[in-house]
Amino acid sequence: MGNISNIYRVEKLAPAIGAEIHGVDLAQGVDDALFGRIHDALMEHQVIFFRDQTIDIDQHVDLAKRFGKPLYSKKLKMYSEKYDCLSLLENDGSKIAVGSVWHTDNTDFEEPPMGSLLYCEVAPSVGGDTLWASMYAAYDALSKSTQEFLEKLTALHDNSNVRRRYSGKDVIPMSGTNVEAPSEHPVVHRHPVTGRKALFVNSNYTQRIVGVSDIESRHILQMLYEHCQRPEFQVRFRWRAGSLAIWDNRCTQHHALDDYKELRRMRRVQIAGSRIVL
Ligand code: SIN
Repeated sequence: MGNISNIYRVEKLAPAIGAEIHGVDLAQGVDDALFGRIHDALMEHQVIFFRDQTIDIDQHVDLAKRFGKPLYSKKLKMYSEKYDCLSLLENDGSKIAVGSVWHTDNTDFEEPPMGSLLYCEVAPSVGGDTLWASMYAAYDALSKSTQEFLEKLTALHDNSNVRRRYSGKDVIPMSGTNVEAPSEHPVVHRHPVTGRKALFVNSNYTQRIVGVSDIESRHILQMLYEHCQRPEFQVRFRWRAGSLAIWDNRCTQHHALDDYKELRRMRRVQIAGSRIVL
């Protein structure tokens, strides 16, 4: 069953982004052929979902390792002493939910993560959905002249907004939130595997466009954030216990909705990425 079964099926969930993989029991192990199919689905659909999976922390981390090197996330609580790469995201609505603004993960890093595997242990009866948006679709929908203009630009990214947002008392405990040196990335980059171009700015980390005035930078970024949030570029996922999402951080943004009052308990592994280049 770890191998590709004859019921393996990829169901597209929205035109621009997102697919559910059916007919796979990840707890049975993932052989090379199955991993190839999963990786291909991720490259094509940018975020993929599995339902009704029972994977323990070893299986979660082992699957993450198939994609690359798991990252230690110093800003989130560790899920267990066993793995420093496994983060606990637990909330009952009493704290600001991690990731509850549109963002690409950790673009403040010189080498932002390539992706994440997020597994749901407990879901609220309603609320706590996550939305993903395709930055390929956002780039493709721009006019040619705007694409060409943006391709000449770079932007600075740092964690000062995140630090501000989580500096209150009633928030998920976070450490290591000092502002670190900004990273500079192209505003449009080329995905290292698919070769497709994607927008690479987000309101959580991007601070300013390099080499233009403050007013120009502010308005360029504001236009791009508004553009990137168009619903046609999105998919929305309703979590259930046993759901797993795997996303490609290089061509997506996501937003975890902060609209629930019951326990939502997730574990996440991020995968190391590489420099962002056009
Ligand atoms: C995140 O931004 O990684 C958290 C996503 C979520 O909890 O849905």
